[in-house]
Amino acid sequence: MRKIIIAGNWKMNMLFTEVEDFLFELSDNLEEKNLNSVEVVICPPSVYLELSSDIADDSKFFIGAQNVNDNSNGAYTGEISAAMLDSMDIPYCIIGHSERRKYYAESDEVINAKLKKLHENEIVPIFCIGETLTQREQNITKDIILSQLNGGLKDVKIEDNVIIAYEPVWAIGTGKTATPAQAQEIHALIREWLEENYSKDVSGNTPILYGGSMNPENVKELLIQPDIDGGLIGGAALDVSKFSSMVATAVEL
Ligand code: 13P
Repeated sequence: MRKIIIAGNWKMNMLFTEVEDFLFELSDNLEEKNLNSVEVVICPPSVYLELSSDIADDSKFFIGAQNVNDNSNGAYTGEISAAMLDSMDIPYCIIGHSERRKYYAESDEVINAKLKKLHENEIVPIFCIGETLTQREQNITKDIILSQLNGGLKDVKIEDNVIIAYEPVWAIGTGKTATPAQAQEIHALIREWLEENYSKDVSGNTPILYGGSMNPENVKELLIQPDIDGGLIGGAALDVSKFSSMVATAVEL
């Protein structure tokens, strides 16, 4: 049975005291919850990883980074390595987010190298894929998804754990959510690809999250789809009440 994963991607938001306030309140909200079938993850900006990780140590949620460099170490000013994340016991890291693909020109090849560095350090990648509005309108969504899967997961031992996040770019931060049917269609395609390229077990065990304007109002109808195993949440994860209520919905399913 796959767990539901509710993950918040804070992107470049939140100041130091806001981080503390949010995480202590989240901690309190989760204290009484039975999280046997739900995993809660917060991905703060890297400057807050240590603080967040210290608070998470005494709580029921986990921490993820938002990015990692594709090299092991060396003269890459401003960058963070997978070994550094591992040395701080950070269990998850987002890679391939559409904002990094768009603003920092990250290719499937670089994303693939990042993913392998995370695996070498036993960190679970949250690997993002998704089509733009133009690509959807051109009716090439499935081709894009398959090519991102083939590129990003090239020669990857997925048995080492990968979380896939389907985030249609046109639904990110726009308030336009994919309908449950639109999301389910692509999640089913990803699951099929996993079965064809790996095995039925890998396909059955790999969590596939949806991301794109997920909020307390639409979370339930998305999570009840057979191939949607959780959410990667941006805007609504900046508000501790909204985020906690989405966790509560997942717990009740
Ligand atoms: P929004 O929830 O703000 O649309 O962002 C989704 C996202 O990009 C999460 O990684």
